[in-house]
Amino acid sequence: MPINHQNGTIPMELTVNGRAVSLEIPPQMTLLDLLRDRLSLKGAKRSCDLQVCGACTILVDGHAVSSCTYLAYEARGADVLTIEGLADGNTLHPMQQAFIDNGAFQCGFCTPGMILAAKSLLDETPRPSEEKVKEYMEGNICRCTGYRKILEAILDAAGKSGGASG
Ligand code: FES
Ligand code: FES
Repeated sequence: MPINHQNGTIPMELTVNGRAVSLEIPPQMTLLDLLRDRLSLKGAKRSCDLQVCGACTILVDGHAVSSCTYLAYEARGADVLTIEGLADGNTLHPMQQAFIDNGAFQCGFCTPGMILAAKSLLDETPRPSEEKVKEYMEGNICRCTGYRKILEAILDAAGKSGGASG
């Protein structure tokens, strides 16, 4: 790890939402702090800060991670996707649209993490069963919706309304 001994930082490069980013960070900085405090990307939320609630979920090289406990330096060279980078211009990602169509949020605090976790699920398993969705989304907590509409939104985005294997 190439530390700058004058200020204790380390240089790193990564791609965030398709944009190359180069910056110097403290070695202990988390990816959530990098995104929110250094890049002003506030979509990933801080709640438990303990990898329990999923509010801070983002994608690193396509995999859903809790950015509150993920060292920023570990994402060097990686392709990071946050909710801010999910839409294609003015066209929402199908998962974003499905959450709207199904009324799958209330306060919205959990929603960015939910949507990115759900995208990761469908990238891995395009047509998951209802049970598979429940199992995969276990790490994302919502205090408002009761989960049913979130489940329906994910199944809707998967192109179906229930049942099937996977
Ligand atoms: S804030 Fe990261 S999992 Fe809760
Ligand atoms: S919509 Fe409020 S926490 Fe999920």
